[in-house]
Amino acid sequence: MVRNNHLTLLLSCLVMLPLMVESRIRHFKWEVNYLPWSPDCSTESLLIAINGHFPGPTIRARAGDAIVVELHNKLPTEGVVIHWHGITQFESPWADGTASISQCAINPEETFIYRFKVDKAGTYFYHGHHGMQRSAGLYGSLIVEVAEGKQEPFHYNAELSLLLSDWWHQSIYQQMVDLHSKPFRWIGEPQSLLIEGKGRHNCSLKAYEEDKNKDPDLVPTTLCPKNNKSECAPHVLQVEPNKTYRLRIASVTSLASLNFAFGNHKLVLVEADGSYIQPVTVESLDIYSGETYSLLLHTNQDPSTNYWASASIISRHPKTPPGLAILNYRPNPSSLLPRSAPPTPPKWNDTARAIAFARKIVADPLRNTNPPASAIHRIVLLNTQNKINGYTKWAINNVSLVLPATPYLGSIRYGLHSAFDFHTNPPEDFPENYDIFRPPQNPNATTGNAVYKLKLGSTVDVILQNANLLTEGTSEVHPWHLHGHDFWVLGFGDGRFNWQRDAARFNLKDPPRKNTVALFPYGWTAIRFVADNPGVWAFHCHIEPHLHMGMGVVIAEGVDRVRNVPRDVLGCGMTRRLIGPHGP
Ligand code: C2O
Ligand code: CU
Repeated sequence: MVRNNHLTLLLSCLVMLPLMVESRIRHFKWEVNYLPWSPDCSTESLLIAINGHFPGPTIRARAGDAIVVELHNKLPTEGVVIHWHGITQFESPWADGTASISQCAINPEETFIYRFKVDKAGTYFYHGHHGMQRSAGLYGSLIVEVAEGKQEPFHYNAELSLLLSDWWHQSIYQQMVDLHSKPFRWIGEPQSLLIEGKGRHNCSLKAYEEDKNKDPDLVPTTLCPKNNKSECAPHVLQVEPNKTYRLRIASVTSLASLNFAFGNHKLVLVEADGSYIQPVTVESLDIYSGETYSLLLHTNQDPSTNYWASASIISRHPKTPPGLAILNYRPNPSSLLPRSAPPTPPKWNDTARAIAFARKIVADPLRNTNPPASAIHRIVLLNTQNKINGYTKWAINNVSLVLPATPYLGSIRYGLHSAFDFHTNPPEDFPENYDIFRPPQNPNATTGNAVYKLKLGSTVDVILQNANLLTEGTSEVHPWHLHGHDFWVLGFGDGRFNWQRDAARFNLKDPPRKNTVALFPYGWTAIRFVADNPGVWAFHCHIEPHLHMGMGVVIAEGVDRVRNVPRDVLGCGMTRRLIGPHGP
């Protein structure tokens, strides 16, 4: 009998073996704490780091793997959460890492365990999603390789990855206070742009080159010649000549829209936001906050020199020097200064160029599913800058989002309907006579926390409509990010969206699947998605201060289907009563 049991056990182990090889559990133990650091080698400030690292550790997994992150909060006096940007969290909506939406913020000295599956290969990242903690440096890369035995549809010899961000010397606490001041104090342009967490403040390439002339042996441990701390060295991408590299690139900027390029090299874009796109060759890449791309880089240039990689600001009048990294052709030393200057960025305010670029991103039809032919639910979201009691805010259809104390996932799932404005349906359109080319006639908006209730399984079209700011003659770019879903980008257009005229021209043939898309000045962007992921999800502008000023909405679908909500996402606000003896 005993023997037989062993045999059965052995046999079942053998049967399970192939399954176990396919998907793994990737376990991480992280501690979040402040780190005195100076990413641009200027003033030291406190950033929020993971295990003492900035940027945080890279997560690498394969499609189908389960990720387990034990997150311990060492911040002495503030809560924390981490959002896994681009991961749909199907069947784990409580692991989405959005404070007040999917969970209670993790208290100081508490540990929360994120468990979720990464089911789609692609380039992603993670970041704080509480207050403005992302801007304080709480972010890192999340890379999902194809499942074992599967092949990418393109060939490359090796892989590189870059995380782009922007940096202010002012603390996020000061920034949050400024944004909520009367009169309003804007955070201004970033002091520096960072590539893999490294930047340079107030030191021009010219100054470096002048010093280099005086001292030919000067190595660019930094581009600020007088400062040679190792953390000031620009990031180095080491490559061999005549190879093909896959570069994964993600933008986690707070504000900046970027144009990224290498000196002398063209780029072949192959992946966007975790979906394969039709390969397209470009001189440079426009990348908005929240977007990710993979590109192929052929190291087919003169191997006797190095080249610059540079990230420059577009869409806002740049007051920040480009972020630079070095493309180091081996065996040249990484200190060898590139012979040619960094690539010249496109004109920052050339919106027609930026839209033309966005239209080049189309799906690889062989590797993507097409959208349903029509949607049953249509929502138009007007993006405006407003005033509420004299404070400057952003509003969507005249409602500026203020998150409730009780996370929606708990309050909706357990029927705590007084935890927020449960019975209101937020507006799904804006007045016919609103002139998007003028400042709002009545700039006053209201605050709100009502939720767009979507029917589970329904197809939804959302039109993002841009408009003029409070001041005459200006309209800004807003990169919109949807949690819990990928959407199809059906089109971009100028002026006010018109269903008759514009919906007829939607791209239903090869629309790219994305989770973040730009809304251009005075224009509209149309997306379609299927509300097939039970949970409560944020949909917002990925510009950190804009979100903080109310530029977002919350959607919910099939919340009654959500099972096994872990107790520790509850326990704050009105969900406190749920975790008592009579809790779920
Ligand atoms: Cu990367 Cu809600 O954001
Ligand atoms: Cu915005």
